[in-house]
Amino acid sequence: THTKIAIIPGDGIGKEVMEEALKILNSLQEHDSSLQIETTIFPWSSDYYLKHGRMMPCNALDILKEFDAILFGAIGDARVPDDVTVWELIMPIRKNFQQYVNFRPIKSLPGIASPLANGRDIDFVIFRENAEGEYSDSGGRIYQNQPQEMTIQNTIMTRIGIEKIVQAACDYAYKNGKTKITSATKSNAIIHSMKFWDEHTRRILAQSSTALELESIYIDALVAYFVERPQDFQVVVASNLFGDILSDLGSAIVGGLGLSPSANLNPEKAFPSMFEPVHGSAPDIAGKGIANPIAQIWSLALLLGHIGRSDLEELIVHAIETVLREGIVKTADIGGQATTAQMGDAICQEIIKM
Ligand code: NAI
Ligand code: MG
Repeated sequence: THTKIAIIPGDGIGKEVMEEALKILNSLQEHDSSLQIETTIFPWSSDYYLKHGRMMPCNALDILKEFDAILFGAIGDARVPDDVTVWELIMPIRKNFQQYVNFRPIKSLPGIASPLANGRDIDFVIFRENAEGEYSDSGGRIYQNQPQEMTIQNTIMTRIGIEKIVQAACDYAYKNGKTKITSATKSNAIIHSMKFWDEHTRRILAQSSTALELESIYIDALVAYFVERPQDFQVVVASNLFGDILSDLGSAIVGGLGLSPSANLNPEKAFPSMFEPVHGSAPDIAGKGIANPIAQIWSLALLLGHIGRSDLEELIVHAIETVLREGIVKTADIGGQATTAQMGDAICQEIIKM
């Protein structure tokens, strides 16, 4: 039986880097007859919105539900407000498919200069809560255009929601031989939701059968530590907003957005999980064919790991590392002149050799 993967390239460089990921997937299939994957491409994007008045059709979630996983590029276009693209496409998928874990590896790569590494490799992961928290549509505005005009934006945290993300981080730590969990907090100032986060995080770690050390660090200090001593982290667990900010920072300290993959996971596999680069549609370089496809290709690797092919995940990551170590083919963001397609080809060649 075939594994069914939905492909949503999206806008801008999303479409360009997706082409390279599909190139890799095709060549994997050519060389490994046990890999039976059927892909379906969906053109849901800002172009689609301008034609149809919505980012994706009404029954999009019903369609996607039938797939084993989703590989997503990026969305964002100057002709459509960013909150529309995000809330009509990414958010409904993440929330309805209970992709409550946003997993982001932060890892030093060979041949990529990181000003912070000091000879010691950076290698940790971020577990960002992805279904509730600060990113909620609860709130509103009153007294519009009057001096007393005001807004309230609510944060929603649930006991079960915190339990699930912290447990997922603990499970990962246990499986990967990690000894410490770092929790991002701000309970000294955000006294309702963040104290709740702290209490439940502490409780879950205490109940856990594994002897994991828990450190809770205020988010303002934590961002400084990410820069000053990034080697000290193993598994970082954070709420939706804090995790979002930490992820982009984490990406920057190991070489930039062009290299950083992410996974939106439903660990129970009741719904498809979605894999996407951390970056957006990069309108400043879109259409030039110079975007780095590594983040997208690595996202494909995470997808393959999720569907039970960790061997292929390792193969792809190894091929990426080999190409970067050789340093001959590099896109502009990492100091070279190669095109998106040349970078994709180089990784493809390496995979075929292995
Ligand atoms: P961005 O990630 O698109 O770009 C930030 C900077 O990084 C730009 O200078 C860009 O050229 C560079 N960059 C990003 N990916 C790159 C790659 N693969 N290779 C080389 N350089 C790369 O973030 P920005 O500019 O804040 O947002 C642009 C649009 O993307 C907006 O409409 C935003 O809403 C959307 N966006 C969408 C996301 C998604 O689809 N998940 C995530 C983040 C932003
Ligand atoms: Mg982000």
